[in-house]
Amino acid sequence: MQYIQSDPSFSADERAAVYRAIHTRRDVRGQFLPDPVPDDVLARVLTAAHHAPSVGFMQPWDFIVVRSPEVKQQVNAAFRVAHAEAELMFEEGKRTTYRNLKLEGILEAPINLCITCDRSRNGPVVVGRTHIAAMDLYSSVCAVQNLWLAARAEGLGVGWVSIFHQQALREALGIPREIIPVAYLCVGYVSHFYSKPELESAGWLPRSPLESLLHFDRWQGGADGAAEGLLEQVRAGRSPLERGEIPR
Ligand SMILES: Cc1cc2nc3c(=O)[nH]c(=O)nc-3n(C[C@H](O)[C@H](O)[C@H](O)COP(=O)(O)O)c2cc1C
Repeated sequence: MQYIQSDPSFSADERAAVYRAIHTRRDVRGQFLPDPVPDDVLARVLTAAHHAPSVGFMQPWDFIVVRSPEVKQQVNAAFRVAHAEAELMFEEGKRTTYRNLKLEGILEAPINLCITCDRSRNGPVVVGRTHIAAMDLYSSVCAVQNLWLAARAEGLGVGWVSIFHQQALREALGIPREIIPVAYLCVGYVSHFYSKPELESAGWLPRSPLESLLHFDRWQGGADGAAEGLLEQVRAGRSPLERGEIPR
C-alpha cells in the first residue's frame, strides 16, 4: 500500500524557514554555552538525522551521545595530537594562522555526538550500493547534514571535528573495527551564530562563486543558450541572506 502526502506544497513562510536554516547554519567551535540540551530537543534532531536518505534504505548510521567529561577529555587529547601534526602539513606562511584557528569545541559543548557507518548493515548486497561501495558512507553524511540543519532550527550550534587519527577516536569511544566513525560533532546552545563561515572571515578561503562551479552537459561543458537564464539568476543571486531576504 502506497500512501501519498496529503499536502505536498510548502507555504512561502515554510519555504523561507528551510532556506533560513540552510543559509544560517554554521560550523560552531567557540561559542558554546554550558546550558543543557533538553531531551525532547535532542530527540528531535536525532530523529531528523535518522530520517535522512540512505542507499537501499540501509540506515547504516548509529549515534553515540557523549556527555562523559572523561570521554570528552580522551577525545580532546586525540584531537590535540592530530592538530599538532596537522600544523606541520601547511606551508610555513600559513602555520601561525592555522595554529590560531579554533577548530573544535569538544570540552565546551555539553553534548558530543559521533555518527558512524556500519558498512555491513542489512547484508552484503544493498540496493544501489552494488557498484560504488562508498554510498553507505555518503548516507551517513546525509544524516549529519539533516541533524545539522534541524539543530540550527532549534537554535543549537553544531561543530564537526575531523582532526583525529581514526584509531584514536575508535579507542576513545570503544568503536569496533568494522564500524566507521563518520562524524564527531560538538552540539549545544550558543552565544551567537556568525553570519559567515569563520574560515571565510579569517581570510583562509573565500566562498567560490557558484557560477565557476557549473558545467553543462559534460565536465567543463560551457553554457549554451538554454543555460543563459540560469547563469543570469545565479550571477544575480548571491545568497538570500546576503540579499537581506533572510534575517541574519
Ligand atoms: C566533513 C567536514 C569536516 C569538518 N571538519 C572540521 C574540523 O575538524 N574542524 C573545524 O573547525 N571545522 C570543520 N568543519 C567545518 C568546516 O570548516 C565548515 O563547514 C566550513 O568552513 C564552512 O563554514 P560553515 O559550516 O560555518 O558554513 C568540517 C566540515 C565538514 C563538512
